[in-house]
Amino acid sequence: MSKKIKVLVVDDQAELLELLESNLLSSGFITEKAANGREALAKLKEFQADVVITDYMMPVMNGMELLKNIKESHSAIQVIMLTAFGSLETAVTAVKTGAYDYVTKPFSFKELSVLIEKAYNERVKKTEKNDYKEDLKNAGYFGSNKKMSKVMEIIEKAAPSGSTVLIYGETGTGKELAAKAVFEKSLRKDKPFVILNCAALQESLMESELFGHEKGAFTGAVKDKKGLVEFADKGTLFLDEIGELGLNLQAKLLRLLEQGEYRRVGSTVTKKTDIRVIVATNKDLQKMTKEGNFREDLLFRLNIINIELPPLRERKEDIQYLLYLFIDKYKKEFNKDIEGVSSDVFKLLMAYEWPGNIRELENVVESSVIMSKGKVIDMDALPSKFVGGVSEIKITGVKTLAEIEKSHIIKVLAENNNNKLKTAQILGIDRTTLYSKLKLYKIE
Ligand SMILES: Nc1ncnc2c1ncn2[C@@H]1O[C@H](COP(=O)(O)OP(=O)(O)OP(=O)(O)O)[C@@H](O)[C@H]1O
Ligand SMILES: [Mg+2]
Repeated sequence: MSKKIKVLVVDDQAELLELLESNLLSSGFITEKAANGREALAKLKEFQADVVITDYMMPVMNGMELLKNIKESHSAIQVIMLTAFGSLETAVTAVKTGAYDYVTKPFSFKELSVLIEKAYNERVKKTEKNDYKEDLKNAGYFGSNKKMSKVMEIIEKAAPSGSTVLIYGETGTGKELAAKAVFEKSLRKDKPFVILNCAALQESLMESELFGHEKGAFTGAVKDKKGLVEFADKGTLFLDEIGELGLNLQAKLLRLLEQGEYRRVGSTVTKKTDIRVIVATNKDLQKMTKEGNFREDLLFRLNIINIELPPLRERKEDIQYLLYLFIDKYKKEFNKDIEGVSSDVFKLLMAYEWPGNIRELENVVESSVIMSKGKVIDMDALPSKFVGGVSEIKITGVKTLAEIEKSHIIKVLAENNNNKLKTAQILGIDRTTLYSKLKLYKIE
């Protein structure tokens, strides 16, 4: 074999796993192993497999789920499914789902080796088509959801163009990370990437920060100062929260975008700079233009390439991956041995609406890793906003009044040691009404 092919083998039966590995090793493959689907996904973060051979039946994330995950986020990796004798249906489903092929147990290693090499050739073809998702993922940017795939495709295409990019998204959806991804994939990646948050300073200071000033331009301007546009020359300038930029500076930014020209505060000399501008906002700029708070010509100029980041509640299928990504990060940082979350916790995290999006998820994971007493993060380790479970927090979908009434009664009862008289008093109803509600909602 001329090229070393990397193979990840996944099986929950330790003996079979050993046997597979030693045979593959002696046939000249580079191998890694994992005991189940989840472990396999974790391995794939470091081990860039060309081919994954996976058993179908496994306790934690079976072969089919692993296959789906791989097709979503590492689409060039080829998967060979191991199926039990007589389960042709599973095999067919696997291939339809995107597996390269299947092998029925028992099988010969010769047969398997040939198949791996064929799968590898397929992988090479796929990679040549350029797998943008994987590239971005290696740069720390992840998304398997449909809208995110679109986002990643736009990033990939927009990056080398040098055009202005406008990123829109709620707080914590990854606007800064998206801007960095555009920068990393651009032809300017070896030049500076400068960030300015437009909400951070008042207008006059902002102008001097952005364009610099001459000595004596205003009190406190004791010497000449370079602006960020000068530092960012030949590089990229990321203007965060662009909706906060005042109208006066909007005009100056427009000039910069159109002519590459600017003046330092207090100077009459026009300077030139060559920068790429990326902006982000969580405001509706269209609406702002109608209200006269944002220049229409500037919006027009900014809106050449548009990236809209979906909120986390609209891409819940990504929660699991992000969850483990952050667990991995923080267990290393805090030196804790954590394997995952309990199923209760997982359900709760999936039900939650995540108003603070990915940043909120990351913060929850960080604090839970710190608080966790065991290897598995359970309810006790979650921040207090989750206390009381799903009924207490904002969850997706609208609840009926009856559901709210029921959970409220349960809560007040619990707070009063099940004392019905007291509960009825607090709820402002008489005891018989409380009893009928308890019966209606089947409480106790
Ligand atoms: N697609 C992603 N994959 C992995 N991590 C992500 C992703 N998007 C965001 N994050 C992480 O979530 C956190 C918030 O992201 P970021 O700061 O880019 O969001 P933002 O939209 O700029 O938020 P804000 O509006 O609050 O400024 C960061 O720690 C970032 O690394
Ligand atoms: Mg930000």
